[in-house]
Amino acid sequence: DAVVVGVDVGGSKVLAAAVAADGRPGRLARGVTPGRVVAPEAVEDALVESVRRAAGDRPVAAVGVAAAGFVDAVGSRVMFAPHLPWRGEDVKSVLADRLGVPVLLDNDANCAAHAESTFGAGRGSGSMLLVTMGTGIGGALVLDDRVWRGATGMAGEFGHMQVVPDGAPCECGRRGCWEQYCSGNALVRDARARIGSEPTVLAELCGGDPARLTGPMVTEAAEEGDLVARGAFARVGDWLGVGIANLVAAFDPELVVIGGGVSEAGDRLLDPAREALARTLVGAGHRDLPSVVPATLGPAAGLVGAAALARAAYRDYGRL
Ligand code: BGC
Ligand code: NA
Ligand code: ZN
Repeated sequence: DAVVVGVDVGGSKVLAAAVAADGRPGRLARGVTPGRVVAPEAVEDALVESVRRAAGDRPVAAVGVAAAGFVDAVGSRVMFAPHLPWRGEDVKSVLADRLGVPVLLDNDANCAAHAESTFGAGRGSGSMLLVTMGTGIGGALVLDDRVWRGATGMAGEFGHMQVVPDGAPCECGRRGCWEQYCSGNALVRDARARIGSEPTVLAELCGGDPARLTGPMVTEAAEEGDLVARGAFARVGDWLGVGIANLVAAFDPELVVIGGGVSEAGDRLLDPAREALARTLVGAGHRDLPSVVPATLGPAAGLVGAAALARAAYRDYGRL
């Protein structure tokens, strides 16, 4: 039978899988994002390859693409992407031509939010904010089971809200963006700056070379009790709560769901975030705070949502 494939292209990796109608993904095909200073086609090559690997020898009915960038209102072009080389690239048409199947394109966090609200942590909630912490921060607002796309398709770019005037330079070209203080990159940068010459777990994991430090190493070291790693989670978690407080002040959602690779650290990240939310939200003490919960679909959330959206959009197409 023909399958629907979802593929998620983030700042550092490409993940693809065939996704069943109930949202269950098959085995994940993993690839590496070639970078942000490559030709746009290089990223498309990686996508095509991952889709083919995920499908195996089964025919493909439709493909959903979850992209780490600003997708236009009609879901055709990636207008801008801080971590990818696409600038106005018609990803939908290019991939549809190359793969010979209909393609649905949406922002990665929007896709993850659709998946979490349909199959995951947001089921049954009327309003939900999703914040994903990976290479950068992805965001989405779900109202009555629909992702709010905004006038031009670009709502939910929470990661580029300025939280520090004149702060750290961001891949988007501006300064002080929230994702510079609260993301996988931020976690690594924080820990890296504090690795000393003592033989700590963290120092050992990166072979004594801070430049080789990765996010998963910080997570592992924190689990083993490394104080620098734990401090990095506490600081990044605090920034998470500060940003959430601003979003809650604006949207007053029922639920805040935190996803992305960094969120796998669970309460080590979420507890400081909840504390910062309670400390910084306007009117705290005179209002109920929304629950801040981990996403439940893990790293596949984006591709699962993209596949579900593709399945819905192309329901009448071919054998779906
Ligand atoms: C991009 C978003 C994306 C997020 C997560 C941000 O830097 O601007 O479009 O959703 O990273 O990948
Ligand atoms: Na978004
Ligand atoms: Zn930015």
